[in-house]
Amino acid sequence: MTHDALDAAAHALAGARRVAVLTGAGISAESGLRTFRGAGTPDLPPDMQALWKEFDPQTLATPEAFGANPDLVTRWYDWRRIGCLAAEPNAGHLALAELERRLASRGGELSLLTQNVDRLHQRAGSTGVVELHGTIMVWRCTRCGVETEPPAQPMAEFPPRSPCCAGRGSLLRPAVVWFGESLPAAAVLAAARAAETCDVFLSIGTSSVVYPAAAFILQAAANGAKTIEINPEPTPLSGRVDWSIRAKAGDALPRIMEKLANPG
Ligand code: OAD
Repeated sequence: MTHDALDAAAHALAGARRVAVLTGAGISAESGLRTFRGAGTPDLPPDMQALWKEFDPQTLATPEAFGANPDLVTRWYDWRRIGCLAAEPNAGHLALAELERRLASRGGELSLLTQNVDRLHQRAGSTGVVELHGTIMVWRCTRCGVETEPPAQPMAEFPPRSPCCAGRGSLLRPAVVWFGESLPAAAVLAAARAAETCDVFLSIGTSSVVYPAAAFILQAAANGAKTIEINPEPTPLSGRVDWSIRAKAGDALPRIMEKLANPG
């Protein structure tokens, strides 16, 4: 990672009042959670590779897949839910929570927009997290929409029957956004507002190929914000940001925080 980009990022953040951050699966990679895409390490065993290399999203992450095979889909999501519960926030998550507190202490504001469903930001101490793709920790009745947070053990039956409308044959589904579904309107609105009003937009650990999330940094740039990407791999948007930091989030973010604490 180049010091120039880190210094420039720290400098931009030091002068910012409103900061927007978009995170993706890469920020949780150092917590042991698998990303969906990314070059990764070719010699890793299949069960450590990016998820969409081992699994087909069309048979697991669409409403049609759930309709055709709710047993398989709910087992897969519950397996991932248990993995998320077993993971711990890492240095990257903790640094973002610290950045939020730092900005708040001088009248600033951090908007944390995440595509992640793992709730590790909240467990690290971030507040007001905008969950663009929902969360795997909450499941919803397919009939009445009532939401429930399942206990921290694997579910007892698959597909899980909904506790409220079970008599009517209703199931529980994870409150995540599947391909082909709309993002929660309130989350999109909050993200668009953050992108329009921020002084600095940080994109961290996302392949920047899934829209609309990938568009927020472009919207921020169009409104005059400084833009920074943190990712060990290049993305389709790397050439369009002010600074691209080619490093792991868990390395780069604590170093940026150090520079903010000890300028000069
Ligand atoms: P991806 O899996 O597409 O991308 C993860 C990115 O993280 C890659 O670009 C990696 O290079 C990068 N990365 C890996 N390790 C990292 C680290 N330690 N620090 C920083 N970056 C690292 O994940 P997302 O962009 O979040 O949606 O994927 C977007 C959406 O596509 C997900 O929310 C999910 C998926 O399909 C749905 O399931 C609807």
